[in-house]
Amino acid sequence: MESIKIRRAELQDAEMLTELCWKTFWDAFHDNPKNAPEDLADYMCSAFCLEQIRTELSAENSIFLIAEIENEAVGYAKLLLASREPEITGKKPIELNRLYSKQEFLGKGVGKSLIEKCLEEAEKHNCDTMWLGVWEFNPRAQAFYRKYGFYEVGKHIFQLGLDAQTDLLMQKDLNNLSK
Ligand SMILES: CC(C)(COP(=O)(O)OP(=O)(O)OC[C@H]1O[C@@H](n2cnc3c(N)ncnc32)[C@H](O)[C@@H]1OP(=O)(O)O)[C@@H](O)C(=O)NCCC(=O)NCCS
Repeated sequence: MESIKIRRAELQDAEMLTELCWKTFWDAFHDNPKNAPEDLADYMCSAFCLEQIRTELSAENSIFLIAEIENEAVGYAKLLLASREPEITGKKPIELNRLYSKQEFLGKGVGKSLIEKCLEEAEKHNCDTMWLGVWEFNPRAQAFYRKYGFYEVGKHIFQLGLDAQTDLLMQKDLNNLSK
């Protein structure tokens, strides 16, 4: 596999990132019969519009990482600092808010390169817990997260349009907090 480079996204990546967010979410979830097209459209139009992505890129507590192979963006991760839910333990949590690889690169190391960089960012920020929400009907991603040491700590609701979906909350304990 060609080498995978991971870099921080900048504001000037907003258009490319918006397309990447849109495409990877659509490819991952549109053909699941549990997702009604109007709920997907509703969520995607608000979450993945250029203005929203620009706002998120500019937010102080968010970190976007882009995976590239030969200058093509093939995946991304979004981290949120100082984000937590009641079930999450740890003094300084960081949320892995999104992790997506393009469909044609699934299973080729993009997720691994991204999550390793996310763990480095967590260490840089001295975080002691990484956590995420993953759809209850997304066993592939759940298995991937388990492989990286995440374990289930509860559930929360993820609103996809009018559909209140259940996400598993998973966390991974890190050893980064200074005493
Ligand atoms: C989840 C996702 C990011 C994983 O990324 P990926 O690029 O497919 O995974 P990688 O090829 O980097 O795999 C890394 C390692 O995890 C393992 N792995 C990957 N998927 C796995 C799975 N479902 N179960 C167990 N292990 C898995 C690989 O074998 C590999 O192990 P190795 O390093 O020992 O060889 C990717 O599948 C994806 O984008 N899915 C669609 C979107 C999605 O569901 N995102 C998560 C939303 S919460």
